[in-house]
Parts: sequence; structure tokens; C-alpha cells
Amino acid sequence: MLTTAEKARGLADLPPVQSDSLLQLIALCNADERPEKIDVGVGVWRDGAGNTPILKTIKQAEQRLVDSQASKSYLGGAGDKRFAELLRPILLGQHAGDDRITGLQTPGGCGALRLGFELLAAANPNARVLFGAPTWPNHPPIIRSVGLQAVEYPYYERGQGAIRFEDMIAALEDANAGDIALLHGCCHNPTGADLSEDQWREVVRVVSERGLVPFIDIAYQGFGRGLDEDAFGVRLMLDACDEVVLAQSCDKNFSVYRDRVGSLWVKTGSVETTATAMAHVSQIAREMWSMPPDHGAAAVHIVLEDPQLREEWLGELSTMRDRINAVRQRIASADPRLAFIGKQFGMFSMLPLSKEQVLKLRQDHAIYMADSGRFNVVGLSDAQIDRFTAAVVEALDA
Ligand SMILES: Cc1ncc(COP(=O)(O)O)c(C=O)c1O
Repeated sequence: MLTTAEKARGLADLPPVQSDSLLQLIALCNADERPEKIDVGVGVWRDGAGNTPILKTIKQAEQRLVDSQASKSYLGGAGDKRFAELLRPILLGQHAGDDRITGLQTPGGCGALRLGFELLAAANPNARVLFGAPTWPNHPPIIRSVGLQAVEYPYYERGQGAIRFEDMIAALEDANAGDIALLHGCCHNPTGADLSEDQWREVVRVVSERGLVPFIDIAYQGFGRGLDEDAFGVRLMLDACDEVVLAQSCDKNFSVYRDRVGSLWVKTGSVETTATAMAHVSQIAREMWSMPPDHGAAAVHIVLEDPQLREEWLGELSTMRDRINAVRQRIASADPRLAFIGKQFGMFSMLPLSKEQVLKLRQDHAIYMADSGRFNVVGLSDAQIDRFTAAVVEALDA
């Protein structure tokens, strides 16, 4: 047997990996034994008691699945087609009848992003992908993983709690035709700062005039203002552009995070071109995961198909959204310097704290947030909110 040193190259030659900072944070928090610790790092919705329960509607759907599912034989590369049909009007609204738009099930929003970028890279390997800074830390590596160049545009000024809108528009104006503009549909992660309707109009104008390809990541539909309101930008973009790519996730709004439920949507200028694009999508998906996992999408399918369960889910979604907005208002009212949090949407906001201040909160108060100052507002149980805001205000005063 040859030793590793004698082989040309082997597993022993792999360099160390710079592990995802959010995953590192979860590990640090888990290892902290202080009972009063506060975890506002991980991005899952929590109720007032600090739990992430399974939705009642999903539990019922899962029970029906157990009782009635007769087979687990293969479904095919597109997964559960009815799941995508049921999602269609929720995501596309007035565009649901446009047959130049097709969607298919993916393993979560992350799978949809990867698949969408693979498709765009196959179509135009020279396209650059413009992404806002800051963005979800997984965006740039996914873009680079398909061989596309990732280029930053300014999005948010943390010190002022405001979108750098003019800078963003200038950067998009400067892009080349065929470049891809990555945008967050709603509930911007990590900042919570969403584009206003007027700002969306302006972004849509620039994207369509410059001939950019919009790729909208919508992972939190219903967590901001409401299902339709949160899809405003998606639908406006569909009004104006012939080519649009959408990565959608059900993992948060159905609270099925680990079940990996999402979808990819592609619009082109004609039914024929969309069919060709989707044939590529199917081929790429086949090479990556063959078929998406069924269970979570099957449960979502049951909820959306049954009028009563669907109605109940809308109620559960409102409950999740209302808690997000209520916690935001409570934090915002604690100090004028936190007022911006009350005007933002979704689970995340960024505190204007230095890395040292974030580490001090970790050390002195067992408060775990990302080094960037990003925190999950509903990571806080009701009982933790006052202690959290007091510690943050103390850090801001220091
Ligand atoms: C902006 C954004 N896009 C996509 C995703 C991926 O979602 P999923 O868990 O469905 O893969 C997330 C998850 O945190 C996200 O924040």
C-alpha cells in the first residue's frame, strides 16, 4: 500500500476549511453552560417561550401522510409537481397564469439558489453576479461555486440603519447587460431593511433598462407584512422583465427548516425558451441531487390543498409574523438608538456594534449574536427581551 506521501495527491492534502461563522456561533452557544444564555444567532422563528414548535397544520398533514401514503417509490426529478402548482399563486400572484413561468421543487431555498446559479452560469459563464453588501453569508460562496464572478454593490449603512439606495442604484446602472442582480424579495437577511415600493420601482426600472437578469431570493414570504405584500418586488419585476429567476423557500413560513422545502422559478420570453431552460434545470438537478426530498413538500402540499388547513396555516403564519413585529416594537421603544428596528421586517436586524462589543456581550451577558451585529429578533423569548435590550443599550453607551 502506498502511503499518502507517496500518492500524487490525496485527502490528506486537503487544506483546513474556514467554517461558516454562523455555524461556529451555534457551536459556541451550545457549549456555554450559563443557564441565562441568549441565542439570537441562529435564524429560526421562536415563540414567546423560546421554542420553535412544529406548526399544528404541518403535524396534521404529517399524520395524514403516515395514515394514507401508500408508497415511497420515486417521484421524479421535479419532485412533487402539485406542490409547485399550489405555491404558484402564492408566489406569483397575478402572474400565476403566465405560462412562460415554470417552477420545480428543490431542497430548500439553498438548493434553489444553487440550481438557479448553475442554470445562469450554463447560459452565460461570463455574467457577473452583483450582490448587495451585506448579504446572507452563504450567497457569495454559492455564486462562486458555479464559477461565476461575485461582485458587491453597496446596500446598507449599519451605523445609520438605512439602505444606501443611491449607491446601490449607481452600481446597478454601472453593470453590464447580461449581468445578474441578486436581490432579496423581503425580510432582508441580515439587515431587515427592505426596499420600499418606490425603491422597488426604481430598481426594476434600472434592471430592465440595463438588461440585467434579476435573481430574487425570497426565503421569508409572509414574515414581513403579509404574503402578497412581501411578494411586491417579485411581481413588479415579473411585470417588467422577460427573464427572471426566483429562489423560494417554505422552510421558514411553514417552519419545516430541516425538511428542506423550496422551489426554483424561471421566466423567459417564450414558452419554448422556458421549456429549454427547465430541461437544463432538470438535467443539472439530476446531477446534483437527482430528486428533492419528499416529506416536507408533501406535508406543505396537503396543507395548501385542504381549504381548512390552508386557512389555519394562514393564521399560524400571522401569529409568527405578529410576534416578529411585536418584539421589534418592544426593542425599538427601549432606546431612540434602536428605533430603526421597529421600521424593519423579518427576523433579522444589525446592531451598530463593533466586533469587540459583540464579543463583550457574549462574555459578560452570554448573549450570542453574529460578529457583524446581526441578531434574530425572535431568537428572544418574552422573558429575555428586557435583559437583552438593557445589555445592548449598555454596550451602545460604553
Ligand atoms: C436570504 C436567505 N436565502 C435562502 C436561505 C435558505 O433557506 P433554506 O433553509 O430553505 O435553504 C436563507 C436561510 O437562512 C436565507 O436567509
